[in-house]
Amino acid sequence: MCGILGYSGERQAAEILLDGLAKLEYRGYDSAGIAVVNGDKITVEKNKGRIQTLRERIKKNQTPLTGTFGIGHTRWATHGEPSDTNAHPLWSDDLLVVAVHNGIVENYKELKQELTSYGYSFYSQTDTEAAVKLIDYYYRQENDPLRAITKAIKKIEGSYCFVLLFKNNPGEVWGVRKDNPLIAGQGKGESFLASDVSAILQDTRQVYYLDNMEIVKLNKGDVRFYDSEGHAVYKKISLVTWDSQAAEKGGFEHFMMKEIHEQARAVKDTLRSVLNTDAEKFDLNDLGLNDENLKSVSRIYIVACGSAYHAGVVAQYVIEDLAKIPVRVELASEFRYRKMPLEKNSLAIIISQSGETADTLAAMRLAKNNGIKTLAIVNVVGSTIAREADNVFYTMAGPEIAVATTKAYSGQLIACYILALEFARARNEIDRNYYSELVRDIQRLPEKIDEILDEKERIKEIAGSFIDSEGAFYLGRNIDYAVAMEGSLKMKEISYVHSEAIAAGEMKHGPISLIERGMLIVGILTQKSLYAKTASNMIEAKSRGGFIFNVMTRGCEFLKDEADFIFYIPDTDEHFAASLAVIPLQLLGYYVAVARKLDVDKPRNLAKSVTVE
Ligand code: G6P
Repeated sequence: MCGILGYSGERQAAEILLDGLAKLEYRGYDSAGIAVVNGDKITVEKNKGRIQTLRERIKKNQTPLTGTFGIGHTRWATHGEPSDTNAHPLWSDDLLVVAVHNGIVENYKELKQELTSYGYSFYSQTDTEAAVKLIDYYYRQENDPLRAITKAIKKIEGSYCFVLLFKNNPGEVWGVRKDNPLIAGQGKGESFLASDVSAILQDTRQVYYLDNMEIVKLNKGDVRFYDSEGHAVYKKISLVTWDSQAAEKGGFEHFMMKEIHEQARAVKDTLRSVLNTDAEKFDLNDLGLNDENLKSVSRIYIVACGSAYHAGVVAQYVIEDLAKIPVRVELASEFRYRKMPLEKNSLAIIISQSGETADTLAAMRLAKNNGIKTLAIVNVVGSTIAREADNVFYTMAGPEIAVATTKAYSGQLIACYILALEFARARNEIDRNYYSELVRDIQRLPEKIDEILDEKERIKEIAGSFIDSEGAFYLGRNIDYAVAMEGSLKMKEISYVHSEAIAAGEMKHGPISLIERGMLIVGILTQKSLYAKTASNMIEAKSRGGFIFNVMTRGCEFLKDEADFIFYIPDTDEHFAASLAVIPLQLLGYYVAVARKLDVDKPRNLAKSVTVE
């Protein structure tokens, strides 16, 4: 959470920082700020609110904000409410050290106490200020940024990424990271630091990925790296293949709608990345998974957060059914603190769009420390999880900007289906013809997704009826329950309608007492053997006044008379139905949010990349 940026070059920094921050706003958006260096003068502009507010305020200034070096921040508050004072950059006296921070300084109270005894005082409620002043303390002694940083990071506990300016070292922009992302971009005569590549794609595609505890110094086109002891480190440059247009709205009103429409492409690209040339079978050798590896796994743990966890729940049903391997899906925030015995020949599948989620990363490290092999399903190339996992399966969704995930979730489902198929094939759990049929069927998903999107206006019309909705239930069984979880999350996170996913059979054990006249009850019916069961639960909800909204596979004859609204999805093999059933549910959440005039791409209190616990 929080987006951070640094720039050192020949161009005016303020505009570059404001444009870049706008691309990072998905990481947090309760306050924003920049600091720009001109000669030996550092000017800080910051406020509560969005980048746009900051931009407008800077525009109104009588003296233009000039300078060709600077840093910027967009905040998701952890310590200290969103306010002008708590907004970053934060500084030490005389603006000797000015910094932005992403993460949490866990021992900030102890640091403050120690610094107070040296005569320091504090003006904000942030944890960050303690770190800035600690760096200032060493900088005053050493007069050298590198030595100040290396000394300070020995004392700072927690997770962080700092981007810093030092008054006596004009032209230089410094950065250091621990468990929070930071990349350096190399341009011609200029260089950048950013939380994520999307912020600098319009300027360069040449990037360096910093490892944990590495330090970077920018001075125009000169980019240097150091380890935590201050020794120079050589790093390889990587070329980012993401298209800069991918981080633009491209004519859609919101990123979320654009990304919903990019799902067919994301699915296709993820499939193609591992499909053999005849499109008849998958080949996971490049991911480090040969048949021997696939055969040797005795149990799978899937660990993730949020929607990635929901993709994991789908995967559990599909892998267990096709490959007959026991699977346990765990929320990363729970898994990391459980003291469960982990089976030796197991595989931990880590799912994460950003590849930076703090709990997911910690859970993966725990698995590794226990000698468990890890396979990460990740979208962001070069992210921490991708770099630390034993093997990586990249989803090819491209940059996802809307806070509510859509296309990355779709890519994750595809990666999970492919793994299930390959486990099943390598272990002889699947008949050859059925395998081939499934490989053909999975390749038809993109056109079926687009077919559903052609009917989006139907969802838009009905969504208007739920403007004043106070609650919703999403019901399903097995894979349909897993989809219900994702649909329900989409509704609550962007529409602020209280919504719950319930395994349909559990309705009578409590939740049914909450149904009131007109309450939205979404039923998902894609699994033939369970149609009748879920249909009965929907009818029970209807009898208690619920508004029955069904997403069903074409050909399902149930609920025709009872339903208030039915959306049919194209037929597909049932193992893959989640990829289709989720689309109308994403649209429903989206259109209810739009009808309620909410900020769809940046819902309140949320951030896309959750790098704190
Ligand atoms: C946040 C996002 C969700 C995402 C979750 C896990 O809550 O808003 O969309 O599913 O984090 O993020 P990850 O990057 O690990 O998939």
